[in-house]
Amino acid sequence: MGMLPPMGEIDDVVRVAFGEDGVAEVVLSRPQKLNVVNLRMRDALIEAFTAVRDFPDLGALVLRAEGAHFSAGADISEFGNAESIFEARRIRWDRDPWHLLWTLPVPKIVALHGYALGSGLEMAMLCDVRIAAHGTKVGLPETKLGMLPAAGGTRSITAWMAPSRALPFIMAGEPIDAESARILGIVDEVLPEGVDVDETAFAYARRLAGLPRVAVRAALSAAKAAHELPLREGLAAERRLAYLTDQFNYD
Ligand code: COA
Repeated sequence: MGMLPPMGEIDDVVRVAFGEDGVAEVVLSRPQKLNVVNLRMRDALIEAFTAVRDFPDLGALVLRAEGAHFSAGADISEFGNAESIFEARRIRWDRDPWHLLWTLPVPKIVALHGYALGSGLEMAMLCDVRIAAHGTKVGLPETKLGMLPAAGGTRSITAWMAPSRALPFIMAGEPIDAESARILGIVDEVLPEGVDVDETAFAYARRLAGLPRVAVRAALSAAKAAHELPLREGLAAERRLAYLTDQFNYD
């Protein structure tokens, strides 16, 4: 795609770029370590998502990853390395890329391949459309490591899946294949063998970016409000957004 001057690498583990077609990309770029999320990557993601949030007139975001796997989750080698439990807690509270990702006002399409585990999968669950390459495997191994999926996983997975199906998936920690993930509602589409997931995600993103952007953003906000609010408040949010969209169209 025709890219505007790139923002470049952010601390060499994440790349972000903005295309002239209104599609931005955020790329996990630590392939030699299977794109595991360490503190550096966490900080780099915060910078990247902030740049996306603040970029004017963006139509869609593609989140994708380099190398053989989307992400093998949190960086286990950093576990227990904080100077104290207070420091560990401060890091978790102060550096929250996950809330930032969820609240980005543009449609987010994630392109999954290889393994998407732990916070890798949880990141994907905070996107709006999940496309998986043939052979993708997803899972939440956290409980096996004595933790819980705390990059939003316990909430996002239960938002997309029926609770009766989400709970075993969250508790047991076993990876599943892409087709099972599609049936469960974890991914939206599984591509046939040989079809490029990044290209498919970009094509999808470009289609969205070609639509009236204010309307797409408003529809996305209203639909997300429906998830988060009781029916009466969700309907009121939709009314407000429809009003604002009309106003924009008539200005
Ligand atoms: N944290 C830190 N390093 C990790 C990692 C993780 N979660 N997952 C993989 N790596 C590192 C390996 O230590 C290895 O590093 P090295 O080349 O310096 O030895 C490198 O990434 C490649 O991993 P490897 O296990 O050799 O690749 P594989 O293709 O044989 O296996 C997986 C792929 C995903 C099955 C396997 O890496 C795995 O199970 N990882 C742990 C997943 C996990 O529990 N994540 C935690 C979620 S909270």
